[in-house]
Amino acid sequence: MSNGLIRRAAITAVAHYVPEEVVPNSFFSSYLDTNDEWIRSRTGIRERRILRNGATSDLAVPAINKVLEQRGIVADDIDLIIVATVTPDMMFPCTACVIQEKIGAKKAWGFDLNAACSGFVFALETARRIVESGGANKVLLVGADKMSSITDYQDRNTCILFGDAAGVVLIEPTDDLNTGIIDAILHIDGSGAPHLNMKAGGSLNPPTHETIDKRWHYVFQDGKTVFKSAVVGMADVSAEVVERNKLTGADIAYLVPHQANLRIIDATRERMGISADKVMVNIDKYGNTTAATIPMCLSEWHAAGKLKKGDNLVLSSFGAGYTWGAILLKWAI
Ligand code: COA
Repeated sequence: MSNGLIRRAAITAVAHYVPEEVVPNSFFSSYLDTNDEWIRSRTGIRERRILRNGATSDLAVPAINKVLEQRGIVADDIDLIIVATVTPDMMFPCTACVIQEKIGAKKAWGFDLNAACSGFVFALETARRIVESGGANKVLLVGADKMSSITDYQDRNTCILFGDAAGVVLIEPTDDLNTGIIDAILHIDGSGAPHLNMKAGGSLNPPTHETIDKRWHYVFQDGKTVFKSAVVGMADVSAEVVERNKLTGADIAYLVPHQANLRIIDATRERMGISADKVMVNIDKYGNTTAATIPMCLSEWHAAGKLKKGDNLVLSSFGAGYTWGAILLKWAI
């Protein structure tokens, strides 16, 4: 397979990790003007998990260890580590380096990828191209975010939405053309930046007392504006990736949507013409865990034995940037 011919890339192991501490909706109604009914009906979220001590790499490492064990390999077998995150342990070095050191993957190179809630989808397409071209044989793809580190717990518009988690997949080449990643449609649109961002901490607004007073080190979101773009963007790419591969909703075993809002997920499903039982949803338990949502769904459904080799899955996401996209793949495990 290393003779220069295009080869296919597939997910060959998957696992996730969520911290133990559960934060139910009632926590927020104890000090903010909100309530469980509003949060559930507007978002679909009942509770989320929070990592009190530790960083994004501490969410990722337990999930990575499960992936290595599942596949029967060791850290030294890994060629490449890609970490999709908007909450790196530090501005630099990248969290891929932190993780490489923690797991002892001595032969790996790696990097972080920032595409917010589309991070996993963008990183999966990146990993696929590197594996297809023969550039790597074993890629650890981490989608992990400690959203509690950038969430303003005084802002009821955003604090109810986010949670902490990690999902990890292993990407490897395959000869089996009934499995693997088939197609991807990815987009960015920087005109969305004013509506969903974290203004400070980068080179534009380095940390000052003023940036802290203005709460610029937290997620800002104009929810209504983002909602409108997300509904259209996620539905459009999800339908397009199915249609351009000459499939219909009936051919799709599962839609695996980014978990930002149950109403966005429902709109995407309806546009694709697929029934609710064919959509992976766990937003009720974890909220929006940014880069982790899609691999977490894959991990839970795989562990529950609900996925079959050859199943067509559509992964789709929308996030800050704006960034959005969809991937069609055939399940390989
Ligand atoms: N509890 C009670 N009321 C709340 C609230 C809360 N937690 N958060 C907001 N509200 C209020 C608003 O202040 C507003 O009040 P007003 O009409 O008096 O101004 C009202 O509820 C409606 O707010 P709105 O923002 O229109 O609600 P919404 O139905 O759009 O839901 C989101 C808000 C954030 C859940 C929703 O907009 C959303 O999911 N947006 C997209 C998220 C997304 O996809 N992000 C991309 C990936 S991260």
